[in-house]
Amino acid sequence: MINDKVKEILNEQINKEFYSAYLYLSMGAYFSDMGMYGFSKWMEIQAKEEIDHGMILFDYILKRKAKVELKALNAPDISFEGVEDIFQKAYEHEKTISCSINAIASLTEDECDLATRNFIDWYLKEQIEEEDNFLRIISKIKAFGSDSASSYLLDKELGQREYNPASYE
Ligand code: FEO
Repeated sequence: MINDKVKEILNEQINKEFYSAYLYLSMGAYFSDMGMYGFSKWMEIQAKEEIDHGMILFDYILKRKAKVELKALNAPDISFEGVEDIFQKAYEHEKTISCSINAIASLTEDECDLATRNFIDWYLKEQIEEEDNFLRIISKIKAFGSDSASSYLLDKELGQREYNPASYE
C-alpha cells in the first residue's frame, strides 16, 4: 500500500507525462505543417514514449491498490519559432520533468516508502536519457547551423527513429 502523499504525487506525474505527450504532439504537428516530416515523426514517437511513461505509473498505482486519479490536461504551446526553438523548449521541459521525478524520490524517502523509491529509480535513469537526447540534437543544430541544407539532413536523420515501447522491466 502507498500512502496518500505518495499516491497524489504519482498521479500528478501521470498528468505531467501525458502533458509531455501533448506538447510533443503539438511540436510534431508544427513540423508536419512546415513539411519537416522527419522531425514530425521523431516527435510523434517521443509522444508515444511519454504515454508509456504515464502508463507505467498508472499500472504501478493500481498494483499498489491505490486510486488512479486522472486530472485535466493543460493545452500545450502551439506557437513555435523554428527547429532550434522547439528543441530548446523541449529540453527545458524535460528539465522540469527531471525536477518532478527528483521530488518524487525525495518524498518517498521522507515517507519511508522504499518500494516506490526503488520503482522511481527507473525514471531517474530515463530522465538522464531524455535530457541527453534533446541536448544532442541541440548540439548538432548549433554545430552545423539551422539553414535549410543542415535542417534537411537533420530531418532525414531524425526520421529514421523507430518506436520502441518504453518498458519498466
Ligand atoms: Fe517522460 Fe520525457 O519524460
